[in-house]
Formats: sequence, structure tokens, C-alpha cells
Amino acid sequence: MHTKLLIFGITGDLSTKKLLPAVEQIISTGEFNDLSIIGVSRREINTDDLLVNCQNKDLFNEKLSTFTMDMLNSIEYQKLSDYIALQEGEQLLVYLAVPPAAVAQIIEQLGMVGLNTQNVKILFEKPFGSDLMSAIQINDMTTQHYREEQIYRIDHFLAKEMAQNLVTIRAKNSLFSQIWQNNLISSITIVASETIDIEGRANFYEQTGALRDVVQGHLMQLLALTLMDVPTDCEWDKLPQMRLKALQMLSPANPQHVTRGQYEGYRDEVVNPDSQVETFVSLGLESTDPKWVGVPIKLMTGKALDKKTTEIRIHIKKTDKSQSDCLVFSIQPNEGVGLELLIKKPGYGSELEMHRFGFDYPDGSVLPDAYERVLVDAISSRRSLFTSSEEVLESWTILQPILDSWSSGDVPLKIYPKGASVDSIVSVE
Ligand code: BG6
Repeated sequence: MHTKLLIFGITGDLSTKKLLPAVEQIISTGEFNDLSIIGVSRREINTDDLLVNCQNKDLFNEKLSTFTMDMLNSIEYQKLSDYIALQEGEQLLVYLAVPPAAVAQIIEQLGMVGLNTQNVKILFEKPFGSDLMSAIQINDMTTQHYREEQIYRIDHFLAKEMAQNLVTIRAKNSLFSQIWQNNLISSITIVASETIDIEGRANFYEQTGALRDVVQGHLMQLLALTLMDVPTDCEWDKLPQMRLKALQMLSPANPQHVTRGQYEGYRDEVVNPDSQVETFVSLGLESTDPKWVGVPIKLMTGKALDKKTTEIRIHIKKTDKSQSDCLVFSIQPNEGVGLELLIKKPGYGSELEMHRFGFDYPDGSVLPDAYERVLVDAISSRRSLFTSSEEVLESWTILQPILDSWSSGDVPLKIYPKGASVDSIVSVE
């Protein structure tokens, strides 16, 4: 089927750094010759300037065009619709690579000019609202114009190769299905630490902070993949429902089990000497699922830390406190899964050393970028890697008590030096 990919915000970072290189990769497979791309921007642009991060610009010949319009002007949406001239037997994917505040209005305008027929899909990214209330409003507005099955809410963490492998490994290896419950697992920690700071995104970050930026979507989704039942037949279509069930069994977060941090220099960067926005957060959660009752769950994320790593650490119950106990799913970098094993050091003594026993992708393996995967799945109407409205609302419901307590203004904020380790900001079990 011919697919027209309409990208709002074609000149933005997301488009030029992620989407267009992902499209290039997809076209280069030769499997998507029927794809054409229309970039929407406010000012005239040269398509060559959009392809700065693409290796083979020729692949876009006759596939990429641009449409200049004022996204605030409703009359221009009719012109856009005429330009797209969507035919029967074609599908339109609308990718909203625009700031969150612009999403609602564009969706509304598209709906008004009839660009919401069955063959139109709408793709947009988190943050889906800034709290439970606003997420409900966005959902209500979106569903006035589009049916749920036309809406593809992107959480690019779900499309990471190891996030999908978490499900496969759990489902297809008996060791994992046997141990996956509270009588053998003592705690679960999910960490996404980044070395980068906010990289000039002052406006965005001042309105967002680490909890909304990374925990609400990315980490809650990784947690849902960790806690949910897995379909042993790997029926991917069932995943959104299974993730939702896992989220529904999490208790609302207790604000007392939260550490907030901000890196030194953040306030100068955002030119707000009083900013209380967190660039680091660590929180504890609990599940009421009988399989997980009593297993403490910790989620942690932060910017300007000592290393870039996203991993899920599963701690196995110890029978002696000197034992090693950690099974690690490395989501990135060095994607793989490993068990930390204490081994006797070779020699006459009895000293121990820690080794990792596991699977890593062989050197030179090329893993598809998450955005490539997201686009391919949306083109093919595969919905398992996209977040449902119910998942979004459930996740906000769990985190809302933290937002409420922060809005009271007297929750301490730990200032940490750039390059600090997670452990130095918060003590980790
Ligand atoms: C984005 C956040 O969704 O995810 C960024 O807005 C964060 O702040 C990024 O840096 C992390 O994604 P990745 O794939 O680089 O780990």
C-alpha cells in the first residue's frame, strides 16, 4: 500500500537527527518503495538541508517534498489536505514532531478538514500531558477526531531491541519463567542514567523535569515489561493489554520514597535562579500482584551523571548475604543480558572475583534504531510497541501523588555535581 508520511516539524532536531535517518534506512531496505514523505514547515526550506544526517541523499529523490504553512492558521489545513490528495488504497501517517503544546491544535485542525478518515494514522510522542488531568484532556480531544486504533503514541524505549528481548527472553527460556516471582526475586531496580545535561532544551526541561520526561513513559514502560505476564506464544498484539494489567496492579507512589536532585549549574543554564525542576529522580514502587507483593521496585533516572546506561537489575533472593545476586538486562549501551557471578580467583587462595555470564550481540551487529522500528510498525499497523491511552492514564495515576507533593513546594532538592554517580545521590540496595 502506498504510504504518505507527513511530518510536522520537519526542520526540528527530532526530524533531522532521528526521523529522516530512520526513513533513509527503511527506504534502503528496498521493502518500502511505496513510501513518500511530505515535510511541513513554517518557512521555505531546501530539502538538502533536512538531510544533513543522511548518508545517501539520492534515496530521497522524488520521495521527499515540503509544504510551507502556518500551523496556527486553520485555512491552510485545507490547502494541505488538497496537496496531500490522499487516494483510496493509500494510507497517510501523520508524525507530529512538534513541541507538546502544539499537538492538540494540529490534531484538531486535521480532524476539521477531514484528514482523519480510516486510512489516516496519527503518531506523536510523550509527554502525553503533564499530569493526570491534562492527559485526560488530551485523550478526550484526540478521541473526538481519531479512533484509538488510528492513534500511535510513541515511547521509543519500547522499540529498543533489548526492551523487546526482555519479553522474548522471559517467554522463551524456562529459567526466567521459573524464577520470575517474589519467592525467588528480592528486588527490582531500573536505572536510566545519562551523561548529557539538558543540552540547551531549557524551555522544554523547565516545564518537564526528569519525572515527566523519562519516568512517566520510558521507565514505567520498562517496568511494565518486567512485571507483566508474558505470552508464551510471543503474541505481540497482546502486549499493550498485558503491560496495562501490570501497571494497574502498581500502587500509587508514596512521595516519601522519592529523592529529587538537580545538577550544579542547571539554574544558570535555564536562567532561573529559583528553579526547583529535578534533573534526577529516584522513587520506590510496590505491586499488589500476588506474584510481586513484597518486592521493592526502584526507578532512577538523571542527567549529567557519570555514565550512560539503561538497565534493569533483577536481584535474586540470597541464601547467604555474601552471595552475588544480580541479573542485569542492559537496554543500552552494550545491549545484552548477564548474570553477575562470583568465581574463585585462580590460584592457591580462596579470593573471589566477579564475572559476567551472559549474552551480548556479537561485534558488528546492527540493531535497528528505535525510530526505524516505530515507523515500520506504524506503516504495517502493528500496535504492540505503542502505548494505549489507558496505559498513559494509569502511569500518571501512579505518579500523581509525587507531583501533588512537589507542588506543595517544600520537598527538598539535592544539588549534585555534574558527573556524580547514581549511588552518590541516593543509596542503592
Ligand atoms: C527522551 C528524553 O525521550 O529520551 C530525553 O526527552 C532523553 O531527555 C532521551 O535524553 C533518552 O533516550 P535515549 O534513547 O537516548 O536513551
